[in-house]
This record gives sequence, structure tokens and C-alpha cells, in this order.
Amino acid sequence: ETMWTNIEELDERCIGKTATLRGRVHSVRAKGKGAFLILRQGSETLQVAFFVDDVRVSKPMVKYIGNLNKESVVDITGELVKPEQPIESCSNTIVEMTCPKIFCVSRSIQIPLEISDLSRSEADIDNAPEDKQYSRVNQDTRLDNRILDLRTPANNSIFRVQSEVSALFRETLRKRDMIEIHSPKLISGASEGGASVFKLDYMGQPACLAQSPQLYKQMAIMADFGGVFEIGPVFRAENSNTHRHLCEFTGLDFEMTIKEHYSEVLDVIDELFVNMFDGLSERCAKQLEVINAQYPFAPLKYLRKSLRLEFPDGIKMLHEAGITEADPHGDLSTEHERILGKLVKEKYDTDFYILTRYPIEARPFYTMPEPGANPEYTNSFDVFIRGEEIISGAQRIHDPELLTERAKHFGIPVEELESYIRSFRYGALPHGGCGVGLERVVMLYLGLNNIRKSSMFPRDPKRLTP
Ligand code: 4AD
Repeated sequence: ETMWTNIEELDERCIGKTATLRGRVHSVRAKGKGAFLILRQGSETLQVAFFVDDVRVSKPMVKYIGNLNKESVVDITGELVKPEQPIESCSNTIVEMTCPKIFCVSRSIQIPLEISDLSRSEADIDNAPEDKQYSRVNQDTRLDNRILDLRTPANNSIFRVQSEVSALFRETLRKRDMIEIHSPKLISGASEGGASVFKLDYMGQPACLAQSPQLYKQMAIMADFGGVFEIGPVFRAENSNTHRHLCEFTGLDFEMTIKEHYSEVLDVIDELFVNMFDGLSERCAKQLEVINAQYPFAPLKYLRKSLRLEFPDGIKMLHEAGITEADPHGDLSTEHERILGKLVKEKYDTDFYILTRYPIEARPFYTMPEPGANPEYTNSFDVFIRGEEIISGAQRIHDPELLTERAKHFGIPVEELESYIRSFRYGALPHGGCGVGLERVVMLYLGLNNIRKSSMFPRDPKRLTP
């Protein structure tokens, strides 16, 4: 019976033993009486040597190996030996394999892009030795060839980190006894404003793709589920060609009942993100190192209890820094958010913070205004990593009359919200929650410069394939 192993598992103890591995041809050098093949499994590489003086390797075989295209999938069986000197060009420097039996499982056609070119850091390109001309691959070319691009060690690691982010989100909320729900994505109308919805035909009736699970997660609370969360697709027909907008992204949402104050929601966010950041450094230490090698980033600074800054105080900080045009009753521009992030970092030494008490005109109709007559602010918040928004959330209005009034104020046709508003008429529980953008969290945690790097097959205004 064949003993299948992985490059990662091979160490001194394996020397003298026979092993079988499946991997890709990362590169081959064949001339005359010998060939060296570098076998790759994910980000691991191993050198395999073939020599004609060995009775098991023939000249035609060396030729056959020399003709294998890069990226072909092969099965190799051979003896593990100690190399004469450590093989610096491979991830496994301790052993190499000799006199192997090779079987090609699937041949690759000629690849348009070298994995090594796709894996190089900007610094390595800039500091290339004089005899080497490294090519820089632009983002569109990478995305056009996404399957190859995803094979790089850094990309493999980014999506493992992404997977852990959703796992940690789920683990923390399940521990709090929240239940995971799946709200419909085919819905009758906009939930976050009418401009940016994908419209479609639903059996002859106008419909759209859900812009968020917002209205449905609130209805689940009215159905007495206590606390709910969802990890699912969110669709925005925004024609924004920026480094941080996608037309389809993954939303991490939760919604919960509130007993006394919406800071109860903020406490859950604190627990969620401290667990997440701690968990990532524990579970993804190796991936973080690999990503850092291609896309260097400073480790994230975060507090065990996050900073909560009130919007008016944030505006004051901006004014004091000379940004006089920041409007205390408007929303923050992307640029102002970034500047405020820097000011917060200088003053409080954290890359993660919560900005609360947003002005009433800057928030969606379902947001709870502060108590009192003619409130200017709301029980709402945004959360930032390195000065960019990853979360928005709030306490929601649970009074159906106030909800109707606020919808009308924003010019939203109340008839379209009939079944939503009615769900608050049978006795409504005070509640709040938030929506987290998964790709944003991964991008900003890793200090990546573009959200397309943290979306496996990004959908933006110009891209629908692959
Ligand atoms: O700020 P948004 O639109 O808020 C909502 O959807 C509310 N229903 C949330 C709530 O509970 N109040 O979206 C929430 C998060 C943003 O903070 C951002 O991280 C991400 O979703 N996001 C996007 N990510 C990628 N591309 C886009 N076009 C995004 N729009 C929002």
C-alpha cells in the first residue's frame, strides 16, 4: 500500500525512507544525465533529483521530465536523502528525494504567468539583482488569471485567514447562544436605500437582491430568537471603483435584544474582535508570516476594551488638527475617517476603535434616535480598523409609529415596508446589532491595499468573470 505524505512532514527522521507525494511541478531543470524537479504543495517545496547513473532512471525519462510543463500534477515515489548542502531554494531544506518513480496525473498547458512572479514582493522587485529582470504583474492580469494567482503562498494564506475570521465570528456568537440564520436574498425592495440595488424579475414581479439581511434579522428578533447572526452574501449595485467597494461581499451580521443601553451591542463587538484578533495570531501564525513576506504589514494594535469615541468629540479632534470643514451634523468622508484614525492612533495607540453617536441625517431610517425632543444624534456607531470602516450598527427603532415616520422622512414608500413594520405591532423587543464586511476586515487586518486581494473572485462594477 502506498504511503502518501506531505512535504511539510518530511524531516531528518525520514532520511533513508521511501515516500510518495502528489504535487505540482514548480520548476524543472533537465540536462544530459540529470534532472532536478521542484515539487510544490501549496506553499511547501521539495527538491527531487533524477540521475541516469542510477539504474532506475533512463535517458528518455530525463527527457520526459524536462518536457513536463510547470504546474502539471505529478505523483512521485522515491527515497528521502540528506542533501549535500541545505537546499536554500526550497521550503524544505532538510531532505531531498532521489531516484524517483514519476507519474503525471494531469498535464498543465503552458502557463501565461509564473507563480514565482506572482509571489514576489514589491521590495524584491525594486531590489532585483542587476542580472535579473523581475516583472510586475498588475491586478487585472492577476484577476483574469485568478486560479493561478490564488496558488501563491500569500493568497493561499489570505483565504485561510478569511476562513478563520468567519469561524471565530461564529464561535463567539454561538457561545453567546445566538443562532445562525439564513435570510432570503431575493426580496421585494431595498433595505438600505433605493439607489444601489440589483433589480430582477421574480416570476413576473419586480424584485431585487438583498442589500443586507437588516430587515429580516430584526424580524427574527421579533420572533423571539433572542440573538441571531448570519454569514452571507450582500449585494450592492454601487458604481464605486474604489479600493474598498465590491458589488457582492460577505456580510457578518448579528442582531440582539437590548435590556438597557445599546452599549450592550458594543460589549459583544469587543468580545468578538478581541477573540478574533487573539485567535488569528494563535491559529494563523504561519499564514501571517507568509503573507507578510509578500505584503508587509504592521501587526494590528488593539485594546482589550476598545476605545469608544463620540462623534462630536471626533469632529473636535479633526477641527483641532486643522480640518475645519468636518461637519458635526453630516457624515465623515473617507479622507476624514482616515485622518481621524491617525489622530486616534497617536493619542490612544490603537488601530481599532468605535465611533458612536452619529448625526441623525447620516444614518438609515431604522436607526434609533437619541432620547428627547428633536434629537440631533442617534444610538449608532461605526467601527474602524486602521482608519477605515469595517462595521456599521445601531440600536433599531422598535416603535412602529416612529419607524413609519422616519421612513416617510427619508421618502421611502411605506407600503413597501408593510410586512416589516407590522412585525413590530405585536409587541416589540428593544434591539440592536451590526453588519461587518468580511473582506474589509481581512483587508485591513492584513494591511492590504485593495479589497480585491481579500475576495476570492471579486465582483466589482467592471468584473463578472472569472
Ligand atoms: O454600512 P453598511 O451598508 O451597513 C449595513 O448594511 C447595515 N444594515 C448594518 C447595520 O447593522 N446597521 O454595511 C456594513 C458593512 C460596512 O461597514 C462595510 O464593512 C461593509 O459592510 N460594506 C462593504 N464591503 C465591501 N463592498 C461594499 N460595497 C460594502 N458596503 C458595505
